[in-house]
Amino acid sequence: MSEAEASPVAEQERASDQTRRRFLTAATTGVSAVGMVGVAVPFMASWNPSEKAKAAGAPVKADISKIEPGQMVVVEWRGKPVYVLRRTTDQVAGLPSLDGDLKDPNSDGADQPEYIQGALRSLNDEYLVVVGLCTHLGCAPKFRPEVGAADLGGDQWLGGFFCPCHGSKFDLAGRVYKGVPASANLTVPPYSFEGDNVLVIGVDSEVA
Ligand code: FES
Repeated sequence: MSEAEASPVAEQERASDQTRRRFLTAATTGVSAVGMVGVAVPFMASWNPSEKAKAAGAPVKADISKIEPGQMVVVEWRGKPVYVLRRTTDQVAGLPSLDGDLKDPNSDGADQPEYIQGALRSLNDEYLVVVGLCTHLGCAPKFRPEVGAADLGGDQWLGGFFCPCHGSKFDLAGRVYKGVPASANLTVPPYSFEGDNVLVIGVDSEVA
Protein backbone atom coordinates (compact mmCIF):
# COMPACT_ATOMS: atom_id res chain seq x y z
CA MET A 1 0.00 0.00 0.00
CA SER A 2 1.44 3.40 -0.95
CA GLU A 3 1.82 6.13 1.67
CA ALA A 4 -0.91 8.10 -0.02
CA GLU A 5 -3.34 5.26 0.56
CA ALA A 6 -4.45 5.12 4.14
CA SER A 7 -5.42 1.74 5.59
CA PRO A 8 -9.07 1.32 6.70
CA VAL A 9 -7.93 1.27 10.33
CA ALA A 10 -5.97 4.52 9.94
CA GLU A 11 -8.99 6.08 8.23
CA GLN A 12 -11.21 5.05 11.10
CA GLU A 13 -8.83 6.48 13.68
CA ARG A 14 -8.65 9.77 11.83
CA ALA A 15 -12.45 9.98 11.65
CA SER A 16 -12.76 9.20 15.32
CA ASP A 17 -10.19 11.88 16.18
CA GLN A 18 -12.12 14.43 14.17
CA THR A 19 -15.34 13.48 15.89
CA ARG A 20 -13.69 13.84 19.29
CA ARG A 21 -12.30 17.25 18.36
CA ARG A 22 -15.69 18.40 17.15
CA PHE A 23 -17.31 17.17 20.35
CA LEU A 24 -14.75 18.99 22.50
CA THR A 25 -15.33 22.21 20.57
CA ALA A 26 -19.08 21.86 20.99
CA ALA A 27 -18.77 21.12 24.68
CA THR A 28 -16.49 24.11 25.23
CA THR A 29 -18.79 26.36 23.27
CA GLY A 30 -21.69 25.20 25.39
CA VAL A 31 -19.82 26.00 28.58
CA SER A 32 -18.87 29.47 27.44
CA ALA A 33 -22.41 30.17 26.31
CA VAL A 34 -23.65 29.39 29.80
CA GLY A 35 -20.82 31.43 31.31
CA MET A 36 -21.73 34.38 29.12
CA VAL A 37 -25.10 34.93 30.69
CA GLY A 38 -23.61 34.12 34.06
CA VAL A 39 -26.30 31.66 35.05
CA ALA A 40 -25.45 28.05 35.72
CA VAL A 41 -28.35 26.11 37.12
CA PRO A 42 -27.24 22.97 38.92
CA PHE A 43 -29.44 19.92 39.07
CA MET A 44 -29.64 19.16 42.73
CA ALA A 45 -29.50 15.62 44.04
CA SER A 46 -32.28 14.93 46.48
CA TRP A 47 -32.74 12.17 49.00
CA ASN A 48 -34.69 10.27 46.52
CA PRO A 49 -36.64 7.17 47.16
CA SER A 50 -36.20 4.37 44.63
CA GLU A 51 -36.76 5.18 40.95
CA LYS A 52 -39.99 3.18 41.08
CA ALA A 53 -41.33 5.06 44.07
CA LYS A 54 -40.32 8.33 42.49
CA ALA A 55 -42.19 7.54 39.31
CA ALA A 56 -45.22 6.70 41.41
CA GLY A 57 -45.13 10.18 42.88
CA ALA A 58 -43.23 9.78 46.15
CA PRO A 59 -42.17 13.09 47.68
CA VAL A 60 -38.54 14.17 47.36
CA LYS A 61 -36.45 16.07 49.86
CA ALA A 62 -33.71 18.51 48.99
CA ASP A 63 -31.08 20.14 51.17
CA ILE A 64 -31.45 23.85 50.46
CA SER A 65 -28.81 25.04 52.93
CA LYS A 66 -26.18 25.58 50.23
CA ILE A 67 -28.28 27.65 47.85
CA GLU A 68 -26.88 31.19 47.72
CA PRO A 69 -29.18 34.23 47.53
CA GLY A 70 -29.99 34.76 43.85
CA GLN A 71 -29.16 31.15 42.93
CA MET A 72 -31.54 28.62 41.44
CA VAL A 73 -31.32 24.85 41.50
CA VAL A 74 -33.48 22.22 39.83
CA VAL A 75 -34.91 19.25 41.71
CA GLU A 76 -36.64 16.42 39.88
CA TRP A 77 -40.09 15.46 41.16
CA ARG A 78 -42.45 13.05 39.38
CA GLY A 79 -40.24 13.30 36.32
CA LYS A 80 -40.64 17.08 36.18
CA PRO A 81 -38.04 19.76 36.85
CA VAL A 82 -38.90 21.83 39.90
CA TYR A 83 -37.16 25.19 40.07
CA VAL A 84 -36.06 26.25 43.53
CA LEU A 85 -34.90 29.84 43.59
CA ARG A 86 -33.56 31.59 46.65
CA ARG A 87 -34.57 35.18 45.98
CA THR A 88 -32.61 38.17 47.21
CA THR A 89 -34.27 40.93 49.23
CA ASP A 90 -34.22 43.21 46.16
CA GLN A 91 -35.80 40.54 43.99
CA VAL A 92 -38.62 40.06 46.48
CA ALA A 93 -39.13 43.80 46.90
CA GLY A 94 -39.57 44.35 43.14
CA LEU A 95 -42.37 41.81 42.63
CA PRO A 96 -45.46 43.81 43.67
CA SER A 97 -44.46 46.66 41.32
CA LEU A 98 -44.96 44.35 38.32
CA ASP A 99 -48.66 43.65 38.90
CA GLY A 100 -49.82 45.96 36.07
CA ASP A 101 -47.67 44.11 33.51
CA LEU A 102 -48.99 40.66 34.33
CA LYS A 103 -51.96 38.59 33.11
CA ASP A 104 -52.88 37.13 36.48
CA PRO A 105 -51.03 39.07 39.20
CA ASN A 106 -53.09 37.56 42.02
CA SER A 107 -52.82 34.03 40.63
CA ASP A 108 -56.61 33.65 40.59
CA GLY A 109 -56.43 31.11 37.77
CA ALA A 110 -53.11 29.56 38.72
CA ASP A 111 -52.45 25.95 39.51
CA GLN A 112 -51.11 26.23 43.05
CA PRO A 113 -51.96 24.99 46.56
CA GLU A 114 -54.38 27.02 48.66
CA TYR A 115 -51.67 28.01 51.10
CA ILE A 116 -49.77 29.79 48.33
CA GLN A 117 -51.03 33.35 48.10
CA GLY A 118 -50.05 36.89 47.24
CA ALA A 119 -47.54 38.34 44.80
CA LEU A 120 -44.65 36.26 46.12
CA ARG A 121 -46.40 32.90 45.63
CA SER A 122 -44.36 31.15 48.29
CA LEU A 123 -44.45 29.78 51.83
CA ASN A 124 -41.26 31.59 52.65
CA ASP A 125 -40.53 34.95 50.93
CA GLU A 126 -37.03 33.87 50.01
CA TYR A 127 -37.76 30.57 48.30
CA LEU A 128 -39.73 30.29 45.10
CA VAL A 129 -40.71 26.70 44.26
CA VAL A 130 -42.35 26.20 40.84
CA VAL A 131 -42.62 23.48 38.23
CA GLY A 132 -40.17 24.45 35.49
CA LEU A 133 -42.48 23.79 32.55
CA CYS A 134 -43.93 26.61 30.48
CA THR A 135 -47.71 26.78 30.73
CA HIS A 136 -47.94 27.36 26.97
CA LEU A 137 -46.64 24.09 25.50
CA GLY A 138 -44.36 22.73 28.16
CA CYS A 139 -40.83 23.89 27.29
CA ALA A 140 -38.41 24.58 30.12
CA PRO A 141 -38.14 28.34 30.70
CA LYS A 142 -34.64 29.74 31.19
CA PHE A 143 -33.70 31.47 34.41
CA ARG A 144 -32.89 35.07 33.44
CA PRO A 145 -32.16 37.03 36.61
CA GLU A 146 -30.24 39.90 34.94
CA VAL A 147 -32.04 43.15 35.77
CA GLY A 148 -32.46 45.33 32.68
CA ALA A 149 -31.73 42.54 30.16
CA ALA A 150 -32.02 44.34 26.81
CA ASP A 151 -33.66 41.39 25.02
CA LEU A 152 -36.36 41.04 27.68
CA GLY A 153 -37.68 44.55 28.05
CA GLY A 154 -34.67 46.55 29.22
CA ASP A 155 -35.37 48.70 32.26
CA GLN A 156 -38.71 47.01 32.80
CA TRP A 157 -37.11 43.60 33.33
CA LEU A 158 -36.43 42.83 36.98
CA GLY A 159 -35.34 39.26 36.40
CA GLY A 160 -37.48 36.21 35.83
CA PHE A 161 -37.89 33.30 33.45
CA PHE A 162 -37.93 33.35 29.67
CA CYS A 163 -39.27 30.53 27.53
CA PRO A 164 -37.30 30.46 24.28
CA CYS A 165 -39.84 28.27 22.47
CA HIS A 166 -42.35 31.04 21.75
CA GLY A 167 -41.18 33.90 23.91
CA SER A 168 -43.26 33.68 27.10
CA LYS A 169 -41.96 35.63 30.07
CA PHE A 170 -42.53 35.10 33.79
CA ASP A 171 -41.44 37.15 36.78
CA LEU A 172 -39.48 35.87 39.78
CA ALA A 173 -42.71 34.55 41.29
CA GLY A 174 -43.51 32.58 38.12
CA ARG A 175 -46.29 35.01 37.13
CA VAL A 176 -46.82 35.33 33.38
CA TYR A 177 -46.45 38.66 31.60
CA LYS A 178 -49.09 40.16 29.32
CA GLY A 179 -48.55 39.89 25.55
CA VAL A 180 -46.98 36.43 25.48
CA PRO A 181 -48.44 33.07 24.38
CA ALA A 182 -48.55 31.40 27.81
CA SER A 183 -51.77 32.24 29.61
CA ALA A 184 -51.17 30.90 33.11
CA ASN A 185 -48.62 31.41 35.84
CA LEU A 186 -46.11 28.63 36.42
CA THR A 187 -47.50 25.81 38.54
CA VAL A 188 -46.59 25.67 42.22
CA PRO A 189 -46.35 22.05 43.43
CA PRO A 190 -47.37 20.99 46.93
CA TYR A 191 -44.41 21.47 49.23
CA SER A 192 -43.34 22.07 52.80
CA PHE A 193 -40.21 22.61 54.83
CA GLU A 194 -38.61 20.46 57.50
CA GLY A 195 -36.73 22.93 59.66
CA ASP A 196 -34.72 25.61 57.87
CA ASN A 197 -32.70 23.45 55.53
CA VAL A 198 -34.91 20.78 54.07
CA LEU A 199 -37.47 21.30 51.33
CA VAL A 200 -40.01 18.53 50.81
CA ILE A 201 -41.67 18.55 47.40
CA GLY A 202 -44.86 16.54 47.12
CA VAL A 203 -46.06 16.98 50.71
CA ASP A 204 -48.44 19.82 51.50
CA SER A 205 -47.55 22.36 54.09
CA GLU A 206 -49.73 22.27 57.18
CA VAL A 207 -50.13 26.02 57.09
CA ALA A 208 -53.86 26.68 57.41
S1 FES B 1 -43.79 26.58 25.24
FE1 FES B 1 -43.15 28.37 26.30
S2 FES B 1 -43.78 29.96 25.03
FE2 FES B 1 -44.49 28.20 24.01
